[in-house]
Amino acid sequence: MSTTDDIKKGLAGVIADSTAISKVNPETNSLLYRGYPVQDLAANLSFEAVAMLLWTGELPTDDELGAFTEYERSHRQLDPAVKNAIDLLPETCHPMDTARTAVSVMGARHPQAGDSDPDTELAKAQELFARFPAIVAYDQRRRRGLEPVEPRGDLTYAENFLWMVFGDEEHLAPPVVEAFEVSMVLYAEHSFNASTFTARVITSTLADLHSAVTGAIGALKGPLHGGANEAVMYTFDEIGVDRNESREQAAARAKAWMEDALAAKKKVMGFGHRVYKNGDSRVPTMKGALDAMVEHYERPELLGLYDGLEAAMDEAKSIKPNLDYPAGPTYHLMGFDTQMFTPLFIASRITGWTAHIMEQRANNSLIRPLAAYNGADQRAL
Ligand code: SDX
Repeated sequence: MSTTDDIKKGLAGVIADSTAISKVNPETNSLLYRGYPVQDLAANLSFEAVAMLLWTGELPTDDELGAFTEYERSHRQLDPAVKNAIDLLPETCHPMDTARTAVSVMGARHPQAGDSDPDTELAKAQELFARFPAIVAYDQRRRRGLEPVEPRGDLTYAENFLWMVFGDEEHLAPPVVEAFEVSMVLYAEHSFNASTFTARVITSTLADLHSAVTGAIGALKGPLHGGANEAVMYTFDEIGVDRNESREQAAARAKAWMEDALAAKKKVMGFGHRVYKNGDSRVPTMKGALDAMVEHYERPELLGLYDGLEAAMDEAKSIKPNLDYPAGPTYHLMGFDTQMFTPLFIASRITGWTAHIMEQRANNSLIRPLAAYNGADQRAL
């Protein structure tokens, strides 16, 4: 019989299954997607190519990438039924709720909703990949009272994403596109994180792909997980961003804020990780993207806040930043509304989630752990 001594709270340290999709190695502080270091992928491949790698296990040939790119560029439009569903939602609802609803509608309307053969699963994954940017773009623009922007078939995935959200050539500047695409590659996959494991649990009952992705979006929304990138920006806002102060002045204010927060036993989002205990392997690459955006938009004071918070947390608790910490201010500099930051995480993680859904289905066993009962002893009515 299970006793409370057997409990592994939060499944910390529990190996629930095997996966060939990615390897997170805290000892070497490394992350491999199908055997390739994520830093190499971010520096050399398009997000489209990384998506194909995650789904198939191999780097796509030129012909395979060409065929996928042609499909993706011709399936970027927002489905009118999805648009109508989004329009039913108040503009005050959280964009993660919009995203969850939109994916659910896509699943409910899918002509092969009940089919889960490998080819259909891959097709569903690729359609979600192609159509999700339009959902984010439509939602941010409707909240700003702006008309939607039609997708462009002459642009890459990253360029078109920025085009549909902002509708201007400035956001197609190479440094902006490159920083955005790096974030998409880095956010794509991370083994059995909470939202991916949620997708696998749902898949293990033989439910459909859209149900699993909808559930994963729900898990990602929480500030202990994907919602942290949004929360990082709230921290910066609470400290206050003053464009006239020096990087050193900003750092000093941030340090004082962190010291107060930790003294009040606050959990500061963007720091810490269940698996990485000496720093998140993705942070140096994402910090490079942030540095590039600080230079592009001439905002050095933001790095002051970044440095000050990081130094104070390290000094007080030796806790390091995770990927969400540099990602938040990067998206802020690009002009995304803060509440859109975690939907951006969805756009990327759709690749990892759907790769895991396909892997779970290919070698399935219902995921059903035990519980140690600590309630009332049996008693009569
Ligand atoms: C993501 O799993 C993944 O791979 C996720 C992800 C992915 O790509 O899918 O990497 C994406 O979700 C990154 C994490 C984003 N979340 C946050 O930034 C939220 C803030 N971080 C913490 O809540 C925390 O670090 C967790 C939840 C991420 C992990 O925490 P654990 O492993 O459950 O450890 P813990 O919360 O028990 O912390 C251990 C100690 C505690 O101190 P004590 O209470 O024992 O004195 O460290 C402290 C914590 O209080 N601590 C923090 C802290 N993180 C840990 N204290 C203040 N601020 C923090 N951020």
